Amino acid sequence: MNKKIIALMVIVGIIVIGVGIYWLQNQETADQDTPIQENNDGEENSVDENDSSIAIVYFSATGNTKQVAEYIEEATGGTLFEIVPEEAYTQEDLNYSNDDSRASLEQNDPNARPEIANTIDLTSYEVIYFGYPIWWGDVPKIILSFLDENDLSGKTVIPFCTSGSSGITTSIETLKEYRPNINWIDGARLTPSQSSVIDWINGLDI
Ligand SMILES: Cc1cc2nc3c(=O)[nH]c(=O)nc-3n(C[C@H](O)[C@H](O)[C@H](O)COP(=O)(O)O)c2cc1C
Repeated sequence: MNKKIIALMVIVGIIVIGVGIYWLQNQETADQDTPIQENNDGEENSVDENDSSIAIVYFSATGNTKQVAEYIEEATGGTLFEIVPEEAYTQEDLNYSNDDSRASLEQNDPNARPEIANTIDLTSYEVIYFGYPIWWGDVPKIILSFLDENDLSGKTVIPFCTSGSSGITTSIETLKEYRPNINWIDGARLTPSQSSVIDWINGLDI
């Protein structure tokens, strides 16, 4: 075979291999566009990096609801907001065995509306995950303070709670009765387990 033809074939071969390598590298970059994270159980989940329509709002006195809220933040890419009490709850305040503790007194007073230290602006959010601990089977009164200060009419709000054992049903009834103009989605009692939180979110019909 003519030397010129052989040289031409070598050049064409090099170009074909070069284009192939370039294409393969681009494919790898495209695959990385959807971030993948592993949860604590070693399962992989696709993560919505930043969903500007979702907010996660929570009150947590001892950290359980906060942990769940952070898992929801990670799984949805939403923005996290903490309802911060003007006066932090001490361990003694939270003593439910004492009828005179701050939490007991607040819970037994229908007009109690504990003050909130921070302002949370939810006007730009359409879907709100709304978390709280169960106190005596119901929402802590600061949750009602929050609903007094924030008009969530027409928004989709998904309640979630943590508790020792009580379910979420009574608290959802309270919320629906207090603010009937909110589009309440039936929420759930959750435990601070990332995989169960992700399963719950994936099963929501929203
Ligand atoms: C004042 C008070 C009342 C509570 N009442 C209940 C209750 O009625 N039923 C229940 O299962 N757990 C009850 N608990 C337990 C909390 O719901 C549970 O520990 C929750 O996960 C705390 O959430 P947090 O760490 O986000 O504050 C109560 C806790 C406190 C401090």
